[in-house]
Amino acid sequence: MNTIVVGLQWGDEGKGKIIDYLSRDADIIVRFQGGNNAGHTVVCGGKKYIFHVIPSGILHKNKICVIGNGVVLDPKVLLDEIEYLKKNGIDISPENLKISSLAHVIMPYHRSLDSFREAKREQKIGTTKRGIGPCYSDKIARCGVRVVDLLDCDTLAFKIKDNLNEKNPLYKNVYGAAPFSFNDVFSEYNDYAKKLAPYCCDTVEYLYDKRKKRFLFEGAQGTFLDVDFGTYPFVTSSSTIAPNAGVGSGAPFVKIDRVIGVTKAYTTRVGEGPFPTEFDEKMGEQIRKLGNEFGATTQRPRRCGWLDLPLLRRAAILNNITHIALTKLDVLDSLPQLKYAYAYEGKFKKFSAFPHDLSLARPVYKTIEGWHCDTTGVRGYKKLPRQVKNYIQLIEKFVGAKVQYASVGQNRDAIIKKPGV
Ligand code: GDP
Ligand code: IMO
Ligand code: MG
Repeated sequence: MNTIVVGLQWGDEGKGKIIDYLSRDADIIVRFQGGNNAGHTVVCGGKKYIFHVIPSGILHKNKICVIGNGVVLDPKVLLDEIEYLKKNGIDISPENLKISSLAHVIMPYHRSLDSFREAKREQKIGTTKRGIGPCYSDKIARCGVRVVDLLDCDTLAFKIKDNLNEKNPLYKNVYGAAPFSFNDVFSEYNDYAKKLAPYCCDTVEYLYDKRKKRFLFEGAQGTFLDVDFGTYPFVTSSSTIAPNAGVGSGAPFVKIDRVIGVTKAYTTRVGEGPFPTEFDEKMGEQIRKLGNEFGATTQRPRRCGWLDLPLLRRAAILNNITHIALTKLDVLDSLPQLKYAYAYEGKFKKFSAFPHDLSLARPVYKTIEGWHCDTTGVRGYKKLPRQVKNYIQLIEKFVGAKVQYASVGQNRDAIIKKPGV
């Protein structure tokens, strides 16, 4: 069985936990976009792991993890992540971690530009300041540094020189910043190259050879952070949706059997941008506390709100999902009533599609009975309270896909598979 896992909202839906769970039945786990703007959390054996670059399947033995060509890679972050995992007894080597030589490399000038731009912008995006946007911009502008360029010291020197020729005057004149020294950048990145070289390969050929194995594609961010379909310009710089799995991995030959869309039982968002079902301050504070809603990458408080069904339906269409994984149900345990948006209302009419222009429409809500009891110990679908099952049913009906997994806690084992789905 080959599966793609993607986020249906604005990221942080609990993809890491679902990937970790599904990795048991996969051979190869592939990241196909994004970079270390992602923070995927897995909690197991009383330990918490946060992955920024390495696929969340790495905790399992005998799995191959691949960082695909569509990822933007910060070498220092990756090397630190490798070290951190090794220190924690996780087996990690060029045998089980493969990096595409076509992935683009995040350079120090990308990180700076990300911060400069944010500081200067009238309308802030609230980026993670990890250099993601500038690195993808350089990729498209054809002046990026790929892993294959990093590994060849002449090409690396040429590319850094060429980039600094353009960027140093720009940074100085527009942002008043000190220039980057060629020698510093070159020696730092040349050093990374030596350490990363054993992990790098032609992942297209590698994956093609392994095409009969079981694949799991790990999406990062979420559908409404997608550069085309998200709440632009408050989005990330990659295509976050399932159809990009083939392009971002170079493995379009893998036949996809299942696309799992992950959604929280409510909604969150980090950073700026529209969020129609956002709670008021008091309720936001309450759910943030209950759900421990603080960014895994930047530790920023996440904005919280009610579930938005038109938004989920739209994400289901864009990703062509076959199943849903519904996470963080337990966070709503104490609420006597829940609200959810079931439509949007413009000046003259109500409609069920998620609107393109959010300034012209507002969400319309229904209220349902909460379950008002502790679900964290529930294992087995039948044992879930009637109200949770109702909530699941209404999501399934509106979105047009079945909930295959319901998650009721942070821990690896706090997950319920719906029978027959
Ligand atoms: P990702 O980026 O989609 O992988 O999600 P993050 O890891 O950034 O954020 C999700 C957070 O919710 C993490 O801290 C998870 O450990 C946690 N989490 C996942 N599923 C559940 C759940 O069902 N209940 C609770 N309480 N926490 C969960
Ligand atoms: P995971 O994979 C939540 C958000 C940032 C910002 C916008 C642009 O953990 O779900 P960027 O640094 O990408 O240019 O920032 O996107 N963002 C995320 N929000 N989860 C993520 O990843 C995110 N990655 C980026 O907060 O609003
Ligand atoms: Mg996250």
